[in-house]
Amino acid sequence: MDMIKRPRRLRGGELMRKMARETRVDKASLIYPMFVQEGFDSVDEIPSMPGQYRWTVDRMGEKLNSLADAGVRNVMLFGIPDVKDEIGSGAYADDGIVQKALRQAKKEVPNMFLIGDVCMCEYTSHGHCGVLCDHDVDNDPTLELLAKTALSQVQAGADMVAPSDMMDGRVLAIRNLLDANGYKETPIMSYAVKYASAFYGPFREAADSAPSFGDRKTYQMDFHNVREAVKEALLDVEEGADILMVKPCMSFLDVVTKVHQATNVPIAGYSVSGEYAMVKAAAEKGWIDEDRIVSEMAVSAFRAGCSIYETYYAEEIAKYIDEGRIG
Ligand code: PBG
Repeated sequence: MDMIKRPRRLRGGELMRKMARETRVDKASLIYPMFVQEGFDSVDEIPSMPGQYRWTVDRMGEKLNSLADAGVRNVMLFGIPDVKDEIGSGAYADDGIVQKALRQAKKEVPNMFLIGDVCMCEYTSHGHCGVLCDHDVDNDPTLELLAKTALSQVQAGADMVAPSDMMDGRVLAIRNLLDANGYKETPIMSYAVKYASAFYGPFREAADSAPSFGDRKTYQMDFHNVREAVKEALLDVEEGADILMVKPCMSFLDVVTKVHQATNVPIAGYSVSGEYAMVKAAAEKGWIDEDRIVSEMAVSAFRAGCSIYETYYAEEIAKYIDEGRIG
């Protein structure tokens, strides 16, 4: 055969393949999402997310230490309060569950980078992501509560805040309040591009945050759209977002690529609860090879343009990197 170009040459051996690799994965880019709950001495498994738990503050150190040992140093905290109300006041209470967890985590495992998820839905009695006006979330009054939530998290020790509510103008509202209180250097990772998605199902069970009526389609995005993702991304950058997040991840990698091309800030992909649950369920049935599926999902996020990857599999991925299975 008279052939000069043979792509297989670059696949001939392990060292060649690794040298020519286009995408590299680093533990420093992983974020682990973690649920904290009120009470003492309990670690409760989330039924639709086997292997994931709701931790009381006195026990969360176990998980933080095991993450740190594996080399995962970035953690995002989600709170499950005991009491909820109309306006979600537990989100910004000084003794709110996330605030308590942040203080304890800073004390117990000081070398972790702690991120607060800023949203109201875990704290409102109706399960929506802000205050209501009739049967919809009222955007502008919600901004003040989101900003208060972000500030109280930073005061409790959060190194970064991540608004996930999808209200218009919340990045600017948070930036202004943080700056006014002397937190000019605290970054905001905005869930700028968050779709209304069935992939959040298991999370809502974990956080007990499903809306009691209706859905989130008046604030989260329609999954048919990608140019709208660029609009949201550019707006949030203008408002001062330091990092943009796209969520969910696996079914939205085209969106990651478009947002990556349209902006010049780091892009984070959040592989959400439904992605985790699907992989776990199929793996439990012995239908797929869990480690390899998780590896491909992670690498594909980076290949698409993510430089940060949030996943319930963070600790496992760190091990795959150690073992040289990905990297
Ligand atoms: C809060 C929030 C949600 C998730 C992250 N932050 C739930 C939602 O919007 O309903 C989902 C994360 C996951 O599914 O893993 N608004």
